[in-house]
This record gives sequence, structure tokens and C-alpha cells, in this order.
Amino acid sequence: MPLPAHVEQGQGEFVIDGQFGIALQGHTEARLDRAKQRFLDTLSRETGIPLWREAQFNQPRFVIQTAGPSAPVQQLGEDESYRLEVSPTKVQLTAANPIGVLRGLQTFLQLVRVTPSGFSVPVVTIDDKPRFPWRGLMIDTSRHFMPLDVIERNLDGMEAVKLNVFHWHITDDQGFRAESKKFPLLQEKGSDGLYYTQDQIRQVIGYARDRGIRVVPEFDMPCHTTSWFVGYPELASGKSPYQVARSWGVHNAAMDPTKESTYQFVDSFIGEMAALFPDAYFHIGGDECNGKEWTANPQIQAFMHAHNIPNNAALQAYFTAKVQKLVAAHGKIMEGWDEVLQPGTPKDVVIQSWRGQASLDEAARQGYRSLLSTGYYIDLNQPAAEHYLVDPLGDTATALTPAQQSLILGGEAAMWSEFVTPENIDSRIWPRTAAIAERLWSPQQARDVDSMYRRLSVVAQKLQYYDLQPRAITNVMLQRMSGDADPTPLKVLAAVVAPPKGYSREGLASYNAFTPLNRLVDAVPPESDTAREFHDIATKIAAGNATPRDWQQAREWLSLWRDNDAKLEPLLVQSDLTVELVPLSHTLTHVAEMGIQALDALQNNDPVSVAKRQQNIAFLKSAEKPQAVLLLMVAPSVELLVQATKTE
Ligand code: ACM
Repeated sequence: MPLPAHVEQGQGEFVIDGQFGIALQGHTEARLDRAKQRFLDTLSRETGIPLWREAQFNQPRFVIQTAGPSAPVQQLGEDESYRLEVSPTKVQLTAANPIGVLRGLQTFLQLVRVTPSGFSVPVVTIDDKPRFPWRGLMIDTSRHFMPLDVIERNLDGMEAVKLNVFHWHITDDQGFRAESKKFPLLQEKGSDGLYYTQDQIRQVIGYARDRGIRVVPEFDMPCHTTSWFVGYPELASGKSPYQVARSWGVHNAAMDPTKESTYQFVDSFIGEMAALFPDAYFHIGGDECNGKEWTANPQIQAFMHAHNIPNNAALQAYFTAKVQKLVAAHGKIMEGWDEVLQPGTPKDVVIQSWRGQASLDEAARQGYRSLLSTGYYIDLNQPAAEHYLVDPLGDTATALTPAQQSLILGGEAAMWSEFVTPENIDSRIWPRTAAIAERLWSPQQARDVDSMYRRLSVVAQKLQYYDLQPRAITNVMLQRMSGDADPTPLKVLAAVVAPPKGYSREGLASYNAFTPLNRLVDAVPPESDTAREFHDIATKIAAGNATPRDWQQAREWLSLWRDNDAKLEPLLVQSDLTVELVPLSHTLTHVAEMGIQALDALQNNDPVSVAKRQQNIAFLKSAEKPQAVLLLMVAPSVELLVQATKTE
């Protein structure tokens, strides 16, 4: 995962044993040596064979042929293709440059499997290249600061699934996380001490380059800027003093676009950051300006009047146009969220769509290059399948000409960090982001959701060799919540619940930047695998085409859930962290009882009274509403079963 563009399967397998030797041929550079070493480390970890030592001396049966170098700073659209030929005796990996080699090595690692004769890779020839040149993951390190190890292991994960842009959302209302030497009060007053030094930023950029990943920084402006104003209130449109924001949502803070001093500051700041971040693209955000500070400021109102600026959107466009010139003067191409698309926006600005596919298409129609994030917001707790089926060249794009379609550069998964911590962020990003990575790399016709889920499960397993533990963290947190007690009954409940979807979580409890994220909603993954599998079985039972095995599985699960509350409740009441789950656990038991009754009625073809059925459905509908900030994901499937029973 992602599925390669062309695969030819052969007969037999290449066995990985202690005789394994590897050689780099053609162009060489230190990055390739490090890639080889990382590859051997990962392979050794997975197989238990100490390849890092042997591979230096053995006959090279794995040959890497690199034609030439890649650009000194990785470019958008640079060649990432590779050819991987595996025979029973030899592996040949060929690429135009080191980036293609990196991609091919990951494909090989994913092919490694355990067989009765040991670890092996099937005989295969793969010719592969990406569909889109811009395949990103955005991580918001403002709302919750993420230490370097979190960033680095997620870059490893990105490499594993061939993503090539780390979009670093590094400043926002809740924290200014980059060190500025020119304007040190930015981080000194705006970050609570939690920021990345310039050395650390260079380390991340180097780490990313080693993995074929560009780093595009985002300094969101003119809004989402509260943290800037704590140290430099003269930039702001409102009254000082400002304090680092602690709450989520859209804040009023906005730069003053009418003062020349604002542009002098921004110019100097962009100059410093443009030198620090080598990528050709520079993201200035531009999203969610509510304009309240502009409207409330008489000087700004007078300026707008004097300059015939009719409204706040036009004022933002005025700001964006001036900032675009500064970005260009520092040798960068500006990128912004779709709000920056206004009449007169220069044509080389790249538009990142978060407000809908329509704005992506509109940008392309007007001749702008753009990328899609609508549908890839992994903070919204949607199932992987929903993300997977969103295509940057989706339904509406069919109305675009081929030339317009070629302006759509790809997309980015977006990990906003209101509700993630360094502890659980991996479980939100992975494995679902692999499904988005496949959408952006693989041929458009790859749309088989069942196949995607089967392979996603393998990827989740493989990611553990990169220290990404998307599943294990659930168990760690559940054990912690259970104290000394056996966490098994809590795991039974955890397996069938999921966090609320979309932006609804904020309305279900009171949150701010200090709220510990250590409850069941934070421990469980965004998607319940058990609930999805149960739903498949319930659908078949309701449709009358279930196998005996399906019936048995449904009964086993429903019995497990029905009997769980008696074991779980005594545990839940022991801790303030879990007592809120008591009603949810009761609900699961009731839902399961109804499921078992429905199975009995369906199996025996027994009629159910109309009143009883209506009563059950009403209860199930209420069970589908959030409780303890969690959704009981099996309730809709039980409702399917009840709906399928016949009435008297
Ligand atoms: C955004 O989600 N405000 C870009």
C-alpha cells in the first residue's frame, strides 16, 4: 500500500536468509548509504536476521542501481519512479534517482512475509510511479506541541506509504512553535516554552530529505495569529495585551493589514524563515478570518473607506496580495487555504482546498494549481473508506479539461491537533492515512474498499517496525484506566465505540488546551474494526444471505456484549476517569439483548409485535447518540437486524 501502477506476478519466491547481501551501484551518495542501512535495520527487526552485519560481506543478491542524483532541494514533480524485479535468486531495484530508490525499498519491505520456509518476497516485477506529485500530511503542532520524536516517527510512516510532503502547521492562536532569531518574543512569549529551535527544524528537514519528503512550513496569517501578538501586539488590529489562546475554535485576532509596519515585520520574518526552510513553497494560511477586529477598529475602517475596500474579504485580499509579493521576493511560491483565492490573486499561488471540492475545481478552472484536503481531515474521525473514496479528480472534476485537471497537484491529509497528544496522535494518523496515500499514488481505478481494508491491516502491522504503534497505544491507555484490574471488559467496550464524527466533540464536553486527553474517547481508534465487521455480517443476515459462520459470529459477539456490563460496571465505578462510562456500558448490554432477540426471531421466522419493534427501534435510535463523548458503533447494525424481523 499504495498499490503500484504495474505489477506482474511470477512463480516462486526470493528467500531472505543470512546469505542476504546488498550493493549500491551507479550514482552513490551518503543519503543512499543511510537508506540502505535503514532498510537493513527494518528488515532485521522484522526477520530477526542480523542483516546489518552480514549484508556488508555477502554476495550481493540485492542490487540497487541509481542512474543519477536528485535535485539538491527536492522539487515538486521530481521523478519518483522505480522498477523492482524479484526473481528466486536476485533482486534488482532500478531508479532514475535516490527518491525512486527510497520508494522501491519500501515496496520491497511491504512484500516481506512469513512462510513455512522462512521470510520471503514473492517473485514479481513492479513498474511504479505516482499519479499525483503532491502527496502530503499536515500536522498541526500549535494546538498540541509534538516533540521531535513524534515528528520523526511520522516522517518514517510517511516514507513507508510514499507520501512526499510534510506540511508543518507550526503557528496558530494556541502557540508559536518556531524559533525566530529576529523576533525572539514570538517564541518566548507565544509558546509556553514549547517550540522548535532552528537547529531542530533543520534536523527535521534533513530527516525528511533522507526519506524523500519535502517540508512546507505554514505561518498562518493574517488570522490564527493570537500567539504572535503576545510578544508583538503592534502587529494586531485589536487592543493589547494578548494572551496565548487556550480555547479551540475561530478567534478574532487578526494582523493589521493597513499599517506599513506590519508588512515590514512580515517581510523580515518571511526572509528569515525562507532561508531556514529550503522548499520552494511557502504556506501563509489565510483561513478563517472573521474580520471582527477589523470591523471594530476605527482606523482600519477609515483606511478601507479611503482606499475603496468594500468589505473584510477585500481587505484580506489586499493583505494577501502584498504578502504574496514579499513571499515571491524571497524566492518562494506562495500557498494558501482556499480563502486566499480572490479576484486578482497571482496565478502562481497554490490553493489548498479545505472548504469543498468545488473550490478546488474552481481554482483549476481559473488556472491556479491546487490540492485537495477536503475529505482528508483525519481529525474528524471518519472511517478510512470515506477518505479513500475521495479523489482529487472526483465527480465534479470530470467537467474540467485535461489541462485544468493537470493543475490539480494532489492532496494532503490534515491532522489538526485540538484532540490529540503526543501519546495518541499516531493512532489518529495511522493507519488511515495510508488509505489517503494510496488514493494519491495509485491508479484512479483502485477503489475496492474490502481490498483496501485488508491491506490497511497489514500496513498497521508493518508500521510497528517504525515505532509507530497505532493500535498498541489503545491497550496501554486502557490498562492505565483499569489500574490493577484486568482490562479485558473495558477492551470489550472499547472495541465497539468510536469518537464522535466531524466537529461535534467540542459541543459534548468542555475542552481547552489544558484538558488531559486521557479518557476512553482518546484511547480508542477513530474507526471500530469490530463494528465494521459486525455491520457486514448484520447486513448479510438482514438480507438473508448470511452463512452459518456469520450467524455464529453474530451470536458470539452479541453474547459477549450482553454479558460484559456485569463484569465492567464494578471496574468503572472505581475511577473518576471511567465512571462516566457506566450508562454507555448499560446501553451496550441492552443493545446486545435486542440483537439476540432479533437473531432468534429471524432464525425461527417468529413474528414480533409492532409495538415491541417500534419500542426497540426507538431505543436503538437513542443508543446511536453520543454518550460519554463516544458513539456506540454497533447500535445501527442491531437496528438493521430489528428492522429485518417481521411483525405480527
Ligand atoms: C482550516 O481547517 N481552517 C484550514
